[in-house]
This record gives sequence, C-alpha cells and structure tokens, in this order.
Amino acid sequence: MTLVVAHRGASVQAPENTMEAFRLAVEAGADAIELNVHLSQDGQLAVIHDDTVDRTTDGVGAIQGFSMDGLRRFDAGARFTNAAGEMPFAGQGLRIPTLGEVLEWLPDGVGLVVEIKVRGAAPTVVEALREHPVRQQGRASVISFDEAAIDEAHALDPELPTGYLLVPSQPLEPALRWAVEKGHQAVHPWDGDLGMDPAPALAQAMAYGRQLGCYVVNDPDRMKHLAVYGLWGFVTDVPDVARATLGPRAD
Ligand code: G3P
Repeated sequence: MTLVVAHRGASVQAPENTMEAFRLAVEAGADAIELNVHLSQDGQLAVIHDDTVDRTTDGVGAIQGFSMDGLRRFDAGARFTNAAGEMPFAGQGLRIPTLGEVLEWLPDGVGLVVEIKVRGAAPTVVEALREHPVRQQGRASVISFDEAAIDEAHALDPELPTGYLLVPSQPLEPALRWAVEKGHQAVHPWDGDLGMDPAPALAQAMAYGRQLGCYVVNDPDRMKHLAVYGLWGFVTDVPDVARATLGPRAD
C-alpha cells in the first residue's frame, strides 16, 4: 500500500504547516502528515517551512530571531490564497504551531513525517517523539536534506526511522548506498527524477533494502502510476485528491 503523506498538511485547502491544514489532511484520509521544523530563539520546535516568517505570515524576520511566543504573535493565515483567489484564513487566529502542539493533537493511527530544516533541531525532535505513540507504533519518521541532521537523529534513537531527502537531480544510487551505510531506512527523491517509468528506481531501492518515497505528487494519473509500482509513499499537497484516486485509507 502506497502511503498518502500530506505535504505541510492539506496545503492547497489551508495555510501550510497550520493546525487547520493538518486537521483537513486527516479529514481527507491522509495516512500521514509531513511538516517542517525550525528552532525558535528559545529552543522550541516551530512548525514552519522557510527560515523566515515572511512568505507565510504577516511578520518579517528570521525564525531564529524570535522566541516561540514572538513567533506566535504572527498570523499564519495572512498570506494564504485559495483556488478562488480568496484569503479566507487571514485574521482568523491561525498561529505557527509547535511540534508539541501537533503531537498532542495527532489522532491515533495517523503517521507523522518530521522534516528537520535546521541541523541543531535533531536532538529536540528525537526527544519530542521518543515517548509518543506515533513513534511507538512505527508511524513516525524524521527526514532531511541535511545528512548530518538525520545522522544525529539516528544516533540518538536508532529505532526511529530516518529518511534522506534528495535535491532535484541528485543521483539515486549513491544516495541509496549512503543510506545503507548510515542506517537510514528511506530515500526520498524529487518525483521528476524518478522518470516516466519508476520501475528501475524502485528496483534499485529494493536491491539496497531501502524504502522509496518521493515529493511532491499532485497529479492523479501520476499517483495511480506510482501506487501500481508499489512506491512506499509520496507527499502531496492534495490528500483529498490522492484519496479519491487511490481509494479509502486502510486502517
Ligand atoms: O517531503 C519533503 C519534501 O517536500 C521536501 O521539500 O521544500 O517541502 O522541504 P520541501
């Protein structure tokens, strides 16, 4: 079964990396939620993609320049525009969540993929997940483009699955070899690098005993195609479309 992983939540329906986007992703039947974490000035895990608040909130400045309380003063719905060109979440009180807040809410049975955006966040992420049912049930993983971040997460908790994110055009085979050497369970290339026929990449991943995910898949035909080939999972901005395409979530 190919997992539907909601990219920053249901990020076409609601502002990315907000509780509303996560809630809608679960409602749509996503198997897991993917989110991004940075460290605030006071060492808390802020759930936000960029290293500044500029693109997604009404604030300006670097994440690390604010305490978590400071970050939470910004409106995380201020910049989101829906398909109809409206801004329905501006001024509605959406805030930048903490990882703790997401973990407290996360419904039982829904997976969590935490993408570490700053190297120094690895120990705090590992500790936040350690006692949580999502990790105990094997539904949590930590991923990063930064090799050192996932190496550190793996060293701190070898039972916590880790995944290596590849930048576009990064060759797959050396990445698979590296993942085996370092004990990372999965490799996640950009979908465009899998090519029209994903079978050779999947065969390679299988030969190295690694799971193969990919980012970001929003086209229903492509979703179907990848699922037929038995990809581990893909991240998507439209978990509702993925569910309608692949059928209901298996519990
Ligand atoms: O699954 C993570 C993938 O989406 C990486 O890209 O830009 O969302 O960090 P980005």
